[in-house]
Amino acid sequence: MGKIVFLSILLVLSLVRGTIGNSLSDTFYGFDEVESLDFEDDELELLELPSWSSQHGSKILVNVDSFGASGDGVSDDTKAFENAWTKACSTAKSVLLVPPGRTYLVNATRFKGPCATKLIVQIDGTIIAPDEPMNWDPKNPRNWLVFSNLTGVTFQGHGVIDGSGKKWWAASCKKNKTNPCVGAPSAFTIDQSSSIKVSGLTFQNSQQMNFVISRCDSVRIYSVVVSSPEDSPNTDGIHLTGSTNVVLQNSKIGTGDDCVSIVNASSNIKMKNLYCGPGHGISIGSLGKDNSTGIVSKVVLDTAFLKGTTNGLRIKTYQGGSGYVKGVRYQNVKMEDVANPIIIDQFYCDSPKTCQNQTSAVEISQIMYQNITGSSKSTDAMKFACSDTVPCNNIILKNINLMRLDGKTAQTYCNSVTGINYGQVQPSADCLTSSDKSFIQENVVSDDDRIIHTEL
Ligand SMILES: *[C@@H]1O[C@H](CO)[C@@H](O)[C@H](O)[C@H]1NC(C)=O
Ligand SMILES: *[C@@H]1O[C@H](CO)[C@@H](O)[C@H](O)[C@H]1NC(C)=O
Ligand SMILES: *[C@@H]1O[C@H](CO)[C@@H](O)[C@H](O)[C@H]1NC(C)=O
Ligand SMILES: *[C@@H]1O[C@H](CO)[C@@H](O)[C@H](O)[C@H]1NC(C)=O
Ligand SMILES: *[C@@H]1O[C@H](CO)[C@@H](O)[C@H](O)[C@H]1NC(C)=O
Ligand SMILES: *[C@@H]1O[C@H](CO)[C@@H](O)[C@H](O)[C@H]1NC(C)=O
Ligand SMILES: *[C@@H]1O[C@H](CO)[C@@H](O)[C@H](O)[C@H]1NC(C)=O
Repeated sequence: MGKIVFLSILLVLSLVRGTIGNSLSDTFYGFDEVESLDFEDDELELLELPSWSSQHGSKILVNVDSFGASGDGVSDDTKAFENAWTKACSTAKSVLLVPPGRTYLVNATRFKGPCATKLIVQIDGTIIAPDEPMNWDPKNPRNWLVFSNLTGVTFQGHGVIDGSGKKWWAASCKKNKTNPCVGAPSAFTIDQSSSIKVSGLTFQNSQQMNFVISRCDSVRIYSVVVSSPEDSPNTDGIHLTGSTNVVLQNSKIGTGDDCVSIVNASSNIKMKNLYCGPGHGISIGSLGKDNSTGIVSKVVLDTAFLKGTTNGLRIKTYQGGSGYVKGVRYQNVKMEDVANPIIIDQFYCDSPKTCQNQTSAVEISQIMYQNITGSSKSTDAMKFACSDTVPCNNIILKNINLMRLDGKTAQTYCNSVTGINYGQVQPSADCLTSSDKSFIQENVVSDDDRIIHTEL
């Protein structure tokens, strides 16, 4: 009997070691790719933005004021913007100018390309949306300003895009359960475009999402500010969907929902130097709603400060989805008073009804957290709540120091997750490998014969 137990232990240990060995090499294999997602030098410097002033000769200025915009914040300037767009879009090397010091009221509008080369959209004034949901254009229920089908366009300036969202927020079912749940417009969207630069602009008080990048490739966003109140519902700061090769840098986001949300069909996303707060954190997801497929891969966040947010670094998926989140690296992140600093939530449920547990899930693997420090508002400073049937794997923690300010002990919550710790990891995350350990304990201590049968 004793001999069998001993042999069983040896067998199990070698199997476990084998598993860990394999997962380590997978890990490093996978992480090579994410490691190679480092920032290139030119991305780290501020862009040399094209000068728009006409005395430099080569640019053709298309001023919205020349098309009859009044800029008084009251008159409807939609037509002037549409006509100025038509002119600027069809003229090579033109600058569509929204001049400083004035406020332009513009209805829901689609600015479509393709345009002539080297268009610059120079927004120095303020553009505001009509504030009354009841009068909103029924043809554009979910959008205010949409720019689509563009290549090589730069959006820049010190202007403000203001969604005038107050009445929309009050009409949200998240604010008042007697309201019907209907979606509000996204304020500013760049859709189906490539080689886009966005710099210097401020997005604020959006009806719902502030700034959406959808179905784009090669987008660089620098030095933007997003600002919506902490209690404004679903006002994501910057939302990426179906987009690849996106750099988001040196930006400050404070809002009522995710500072950044990265959803399906997005990959090669680099974020650097972000401030987030208030808000719900920097999120991948949600993914997998209504049994859908969600795929996000190769995401890097380097250097961020999150303050007073409800989440820090979050991956959220619904039960019942499919697809994967793979190859994510978070590093050099400071948290202050963040409720869930590190969280993977595969039981996400943003619905009035409870979401039933299901067997399928969006698979989460190769997620690395490195140099993450600061304070947690909740006990579970790290929370890995993974699907029982599709565990999270290859979660790597290196140099983590998260503590509670109130003197209580912070801890790590694990459900169905495997991974490894390096360096100092505080709170300790021994539960990351607990499935292997409990496997040894339960099986070896109880029924040795069964082990041999199951393992062979
Ligand atoms: C802008 O919206 C208002 C309110 O619905 C409407 O009266 C006006 O005609 C719209 N302007 C344009 C140019 O369509
Ligand atoms: C985008 O422009 C191309 C021409 O460059 C055109 O073929 C295509 O239909 C346009 N797509 C949309 C969605 O407008
Ligand atoms: C919610 O909306 C109902 C109906 O419009 C209104 O009577 C009630 O005062 C609102 N409640 C809050 C908390 O605003
Ligand atoms: C997610 O993107 C994939 C393509 O990468 C697509 O097949 C799938 O339908 C998308 N899922 C949703 C929910 O849109
Ligand atoms: C998702 O799939 C589960 C299991 O097949 C099914 O019970 C459920 O109704 C599906 N949900 C939706 C929204 O299609
Ligand atoms: C789903 O499963 C998780 C983990 O096993 C459990 O904590 C949670 O209570 C379950 N939720 C429902 C709605 O059954
Ligand atoms: C983590 O922090 C240490 C100490 O500040 C620093 O030397 C190291 O470069 C950081 N790691 C990364 C990946 O930035």
